[in-house]
This record gives sequence, structure tokens and C-alpha cells, in this order.
Amino acid sequence: MENSVKIQTVASEIRGTGMCVPERVVSNEHFAAYLETSDEWIRERTGIEQRRWCEKGTSASALAEPACREAISAAGLTVNDIDGIVLGTVTPDNIFPSTACYLQARLGITNGFAFDVNAVCSGFIYALTTADALIRSGQGTNVLVVGVDLYSGIIDPNDRGTCVLFGDGAGAVVLSRKQGESLVDGAFGDHLAQGDVRSISGIYGSELKADGRFADLLCVPMGTANPPTPDSLKRGDHFLQMQGREVFKFAVRSLADVTKSVLDRAGVSVEEVDLFISHQANKRILLSMAKHLGIPEEKVPINVDRYGNTSAATIPIVLAECEREGRIKKGDLLLLSAVGGGFSWGAVLVRW
Ligand SMILES: CC(C)(COP(=O)(O)OP(=O)(O)OC[C@H]1O[C@@H](n2cnc3c(N)ncnc32)[C@H](O)[C@@H]1OP(=O)(O)O)[C@@H](O)C(=O)NCCC(=O)NCCS
Repeated sequence: MENSVKIQTVASEIRGTGMCVPERVVSNEHFAAYLETSDEWIRERTGIEQRRWCEKGTSASALAEPACREAISAAGLTVNDIDGIVLGTVTPDNIFPSTACYLQARLGITNGFAFDVNAVCSGFIYALTTADALIRSGQGTNVLVVGVDLYSGIIDPNDRGTCVLFGDGAGAVVLSRKQGESLVDGAFGDHLAQGDVRSISGIYGSELKADGRFADLLCVPMGTANPPTPDSLKRGDHFLQMQGREVFKFAVRSLADVTKSVLDRAGVSVEEVDLFISHQANKRILLSMAKHLGIPEEKVPINVDRYGNTSAATIPIVLAECEREGRIKKGDLLLLSAVGGGFSWGAVLVRW
């Protein structure tokens, strides 16, 4: 009689990607025309050359819908196969219900769950980790994981320290359940530890972090604690506020730390990772993180030059673009990482 126990295991894998950015291109000259700034300053300090902005009144769910349809079709599925939506955003259609519910209705899905995750620029990493956990617990087969933000509506057009940085965008992936006997469930890193499963696609591990002591360094201060009044609106409390220099320093350190931590726990070296797909906030943050970790620049895709910081949407947009360009190949090992308001940050290790 066989002595070994075969473990029926569940894991999740990314099956399709999609993205959508608005048509309207906003150049650096747009800001230089009315603010004390210049194309040269913005390029040098951030790497941003242009961003895309929606027309006023566009909803997050409207921008996300084409990205989701593209991801579903790339996965070889139809909307009827989707039984869950986890959506990262801080620029929802309304205060409630969730943008995920509006998106569900737009897509014509009436099956499964739909909810939003608020982790600012880490929204996609948080959403992906949540969807992976739900699939592993048997609560979803094909889950749409979405990152969408429209910061054009929450930036102060007269604050040169913030208004030049952000763009609007949406990205999505379909995360699907996979079952087999070769993946070991639960124990982080076990998939990689077993030599024979090194080529199996799926989410290999993740880590989510937050430290609310830094909440005020990057926030939109209007809400229940500070309701809209003529005075608070005059102060611009409905706009994003940021201490840029502090955020910059924290971003480099936290991205490097969480990357190292996820790789160490999985027993993977920096050299073994094919691409480091990291939050697109500022080219200098990406290059500093890469230098810190000894990552060659060609392993760090950059599109912040074309889209600016699209918050929760940056990572799925980079994924979709890299896949289209053939920059991600089957079997590649990817390290996704992000940091944002909260502060919140995190990383996910994925085999394509
Ligand atoms: C915002 C950011 C680009 C500013 O660059 P920086 O090199 O740190 O610049 P500082 O904040 O030190 O400001 C230096 C000077 O540039 C000025 N400045 C800021 N924005 C400017 C702009 N668009 N054009 C010209 N000058 C600008 C500042 O007012 C400051 O002037 P001062 O010295 O007279 O006070 C940078 O701090 C940054 O990218 N931070 C992280 C932002 C981020 O990623 N946020 C999202 C995280 S998810």
C-alpha cells in the first residue's frame, strides 16, 4: 500500500490581463502654462513626461469596465465565468455602494461577491492577496482583481508639489483557481521549495504591511472627522495633500524591505526574479529601490513617464503592457510591489 499522502491542493494563477487609460493626454507644459514649474523640472524629479486624464464626471467603474472585458477575453473566459470582484480604489463612483458593485452591474454579472479595498496605491497588491486567499478558501473560481483610480478629480490644480504627479487609469487581471496534487497548500514558499514544481504558475506568496502613524503624510482630509463645510472646502480639504520628501524616503525603504522579505521567505534570490513590477510613482523611487536591492534596471519596467502615478492601477497596467510586448513569458518569476497612503505597502511573488 502507498505510504505517502497525496494532498489535494488549491492555488490561484493569473490567467488574463487588461488595461484602460483615458484618451486625453496632459503634457507637462499644461502645468508650466499656469504654475511655477517646467517640463524639465517634472522630468528630472519624477521621470513623468505626460499623464492621461478622464473627462470630468467619468466614473471609476466606467474606466475599469474595458480593462476587465479585456482581461476576461485574454483569459479565454466570458463574464458568465466570473464569480467575484475585488477592486482597489480610493476614487470610488460614490461613497457607497462599492465601485465593484457598479462594475459588476456594468459587466452584467450577478454571480458571486463584489467589494472594494482601500489601500491607496497598494490597492492592487492588497486586492490580489485578498482574492488569492478567497480562492484558496473555496470562495471563487475566476475572480476579477481590479485597480482603478481617477486622481484628476482629487488633486489641487494649484499645488505644484502634487498636481503634476498623478494620472487616471485602470488595470485588471483574472485570477483563477487551479487544483492539483503538486502544489502544497498553505505553507508559504513550499511551492518553490519543491524542486519539481518550480515551473508551476501561480501566486507563490505575499506580504501586506501598514503603519497608520504616517496617515497624515499622504491623505485627502475630508470625511466624517472633517465634514465638508464652506471653510473646509475653501481650505481645499477635499484635495490630496502630501509631504513629498518624507513619502519618497519611506517608499524606497519599504519597497526594498518588503521585496527582500517576500523573497527570503520563499527562498528565492533577487537574481532568480525575471521582472520587478513595482508601483509607478516616480522613476527615481524605482531606480533607488533597484539600486538598493542590486537589481539591474532592465528588470524594472517603467511607464510612469507616459501615465504618471495612477495609484491602484499602476501594477495591472504594467502587467498588461509587458504581456502585450512579450516582456513577460510563460514560466517567468515576477515580484510585484507597491507602497501608498496609510502608509500601506506589500509585495506578491508570482510565477507566470
Ligand atoms: C514630490 C516630489 C517629486 C518632489 O521632489 P523633491 O525632489 O523631493 O522636491 P522637494 O519636495 O524637496 O522640493 C524641492 C523644491 O521643489 C519645489 N517643487 C515641488 N514641486 C515642484 C514642481 N512641480 N515644479 C517646480 N518646483 C517644485 C518645492 O516647492 C521645493 O521648493 P523650495 O525648496 O523652494 O521649498 C518627490 O518628493 C516625490 O516624488 N515624492 C514621492 C511622491 C509620491 O510618490 N507619492 C505617491 C506615493 S504612492
